[in-house]
Amino acid sequence: MTYDKVFVIGAGSMAEAFIRGVTGAGVVRPTDIRVINRSRADRLKHVVDTYGVVAADGYADAAGAALVVLAVKPADVAEALLRVAPHLNQALLLSFAAGVNQGYIRERCPSVRTVRAMPNLPVAVRNGVTAVAFGDETTPSDKEYIHTLLNALGAVVELPEHLMDAATAVSGSGPGFLCYILEGMETAAAKLGLAPELARIMLIQTMVGTARTLAEWDVSPETLRQRVTSPHGTTEAGVKQLDSGYVRGYVYEAVLAAAARAAEMGKSYLPAQTAAE
Ligand SMILES: NC(=O)c1ccc[n+]([C@@H]2O[C@H](COP(=O)([O-])OP(=O)(O)OC[C@H]3O[C@@H](n4cnc5c(N)ncnc54)[C@H](OP(=O)(O)O)[C@@H]3O)[C@@H](O)[C@H]2O)c1
Repeated sequence: MTYDKVFVIGAGSMAEAFIRGVTGAGVVRPTDIRVINRSRADRLKHVVDTYGVVAADGYADAAGAALVVLAVKPADVAEALLRVAPHLNQALLLSFAAGVNQGYIRERCPSVRTVRAMPNLPVAVRNGVTAVAFGDETTPSDKEYIHTLLNALGAVVELPEHLMDAATAVSGSGPGFLCYILEGMETAAAKLGLAPELARIMLIQTMVGTARTLAEWDVSPETLRQRVTSPHGTTEAGVKQLDSGYVRGYVYEAVLAAAARAAEMGKSYLPAQTAAE
């Protein structure tokens, strides 16, 4: 099977991150990508001019595509599917829409094979992680192709669809949680007299370096933390403070709250979806 023609619905941030990643990595030729946007002509012009992709003449252009990428907000999914459905024939449909399940998509586009993906913000700099759930009808070559495409945006983890809300909470909201910790560290750095621009460099490199060490040494965060924590030393003094404030428990609760909210949002965007379940 060949997948050369790609039709992208939406020209927003996610569509751009996808296009930048796959064209930058050379896994799809820009001229094989057709993009359609709803109303903002400037966004469409931006992606066409920047990446050399082609502006679609209309939804009928989807007819020639082996892969359709759905990159619209969850609330806009119903309308986008309604418009594209008549033109689809045995295509593979990759949906980035948070909270929208594959059953909902296949109900509206019965001919497609579906893949649901939950990327996180760092896909914009090709260092993200994308959780993917493959529909039952996808083939081994579909899976291989999607892994190749999404690897251009960072790491890829395959999950059953019911764990997508968990992925949304852990890796989707994860950058927000890490930045929350960094905000506290930035404020403390200023109090200790460090210039903000220097503190920013120190904190970013500390985060990048810690992540890289965890990956390269293949150790758990707990092991790495213990290695930098000498008895009666500085890290121990700080961690004691965190423990006395039950910060670990609050971080745990924060991730669970994000997962609960993901489940709730999926229902509120698409009431018909929950009714069908
Ligand atoms: N950005 C991320 O890092 C990220 C991460 C995880 C998941 N996602 C998911 O990715 C999806 C897109 O998010 P985003 O951040 O890219 O949103 P965005 O920047 O608002 O882009 C959405 C685009 O979809 C277009 N659109 C809406 N309805 C359309 C239709 N019927 N036909 C064609 N185009 C249509 C909009 O066009 P107009 O502006 O002209 O209306 C807009 O350009 C969402 O479902 C989100 O949950 C995004």
